Amino acid sequence: MHLRRLLRAVATAICLSIAVVDAVKVNPLPAPTSITWGNSGPIRVSERLALKGCENSHVRSAWRRALDAITRIRWVPAAIEEPIPKFDPFPETTTKRRRDRNDRSRGIRDVNIKIEDERAELKHGVDESYTLEIKEGSDSIDITAKTVWGALHAFTTLQQIIISDGKRDLIVEQPVSIKDKPLYPYRGVMIDTGRNFISPRKIREQIDGMALSKLNVLHWHIYDSQSWPVVMRSYPEMSKDAYSRRETYNGEDIRSIVDYARQRGVRVIPETDLPGHSASGWQQVDPEIVTCANSWWSNDVWEFHTAVQPNPGQLDVIHDKTYEVIEKVYKELTGYFSDDFFHVGGDEVHDNCFKFSPKIRAWFAEDSKRTFNDLLQHWIDRSVPIFKDRKSRRIVMWEDVVMANTHAHSVPKDIIMQSWNGGLKNIKNLTSRGYDVIVSSSDFFYLDCGNGGYVTNDPRYNVMTNPDPDTPNFNYGGNGGSWCAPYKTWQRIYNYDFTDGLTDDEKKHVIGGTAPLWSEQVDDAVISTKMWPRAAALGELLWSGNVDKDGKKRTTEMTQRIFNFREYLLANEVSAAPLTPKYCLQHPHACDLNYDQSAVV
Ligand SMILES: *[C@@H]1O[C@H](CO)[C@@H](O)[C@H](O)[C@H]1NC(C)=O
Repeated sequence: MHLRRLLRAVATAICLSIAVVDAVKVNPLPAPTSITWGNSGPIRVSERLALKGCENSHVRSAWRRALDAITRIRWVPAAIEEPIPKFDPFPETTTKRRRDRNDRSRGIRDVNIKIEDERAELKHGVDESYTLEIKEGSDSIDITAKTVWGALHAFTTLQQIIISDGKRDLIVEQPVSIKDKPLYPYRGVMIDTGRNFISPRKIREQIDGMALSKLNVLHWHIYDSQSWPVVMRSYPEMSKDAYSRRETYNGEDIRSIVDYARQRGVRVIPETDLPGHSASGWQQVDPEIVTCANSWWSNDVWEFHTAVQPNPGQLDVIHDKTYEVIEKVYKELTGYFSDDFFHVGGDEVHDNCFKFSPKIRAWFAEDSKRTFNDLLQHWIDRSVPIFKDRKSRRIVMWEDVVMANTHAHSVPKDIIMQSWNGGLKNIKNLTSRGYDVIVSSSDFFYLDCGNGGYVTNDPRYNVMTNPDPDTPNFNYGGNGGSWCAPYKTWQRIYNYDFTDGLTDDEKKHVIGGTAPLWSEQVDDAVISTKMWPRAAALGELLWSGNVDKDGKKRTTEMTQRIFNFREYLLANEVSAAPLTPKYCLQHPHACDLNYDQSAVV
């Protein structure tokens, strides 16, 4: 049924039937570093495909999930990749003879797996490489991996290349030989459960999509000034600032999300955004450790503004008790999150907000030469020893601590900077100073941009004029109320050459990237469609890059792959937004802007 629909689509293009390899070529996403398809025709795959050679429980349960997806979904590629058809007004009806499937009674029964080191922990830089090989006419699939985590990637590849023939059988095109490993060790998306609550069920759905697209870091911005959703043992009163009792995570919820992710090769890295973006929760412990929480955020009178958005609040970095509370909160959270990385925020600190603290005012009065940069340095000097609680700990901060107008003078070089402003300029700046960098440039990777403003009582919307290029107003011709408009499409994300202009030494400092999905306008209802399938474009960009083996941009080639992958996400119960009219998916490259397939270079 599916295959017939597929064939009909292709028949309109060049022929009446196709080889499976043409159809399956859109799989998998991300494209492996190296994949060689043979042309011997598809071979049948047993429904009871058995994994041999590994008793590791992680691997076995990952295998059960992959086999379940293969046999339950019975994937028929939704899009295909074909050479762009030549326009011919009077086509002859040609029928490419479909090669017969290899002997039906035989087929593939086993997956032989060899893992070199089953004990390697899931952590930054762990070897994720694997090979996958089906020799011509063989009755088995051979997988090798250095670690369990590479084996898991082999399975998400395999589950995308074993497809259904549209009738009874599972098939795979063979021979096939894959050698695969990631370009970058840090491949992330960021969720934000401070602006709106995201349920554990929906977080797991993101992790499912990540595993399929080989993203391996879930950066979890847990709280923000608006709410504190974690039920704490150390300070139970903090979750009075959750949106409701239902909209909370306790330690067990967090541990179970971390475990769910780990089973899929995904690390969960928490973020406590400090000292800015902090009111909810902290103020319940002691209102005195939070400054300016009761101020008007004052976007309307800029010289008094205390925050980039409502509601304001920062931790009082001079108050001793602040550090006592942070230490306990950090200790409890690091117990729930097992990863060596911990993100401690550091973005968008406002001088005006600090002025609300009597202790900070007194500190400035003690020495008239003190500046806000000194104040931030004081924060770094006092907080970093708390965060650096063990030798293997890696601290991550937003780049603001060294790049913003108000910045610390000296921040240890082993702290990883997450860069979100200034695109290539900031990446160059930070890597040249010796910082490891996670790329999150807002002009390319921010998944929340372009949805318009959410702050209210805004007269800029009360304008009845049409677009006017000479006097752009707020809604038209301007940024449409979104500071980082427009919406970042998958092509915008995929085309980002974020190491352009870096020296080889600087390039080594880029450890990967993360696409943030800030949640002012995101909750369970929309998180998946805002995340997917765009995050998969980042997945491939960071796994195997955006160029082919000749160094040419392969965005056009990616088109059918990501169209297909979107349908595959749906089949795996990950909600994903449509990228295009279905016509474009069914008619390869008919919707290209340029007929010339090398227009994107
Ligand atoms: C990095 O950026 C900061 C802040 O704009 C600037 O002061 C500094 O000179 C830059 N450093 C380099 C190496 O580009």
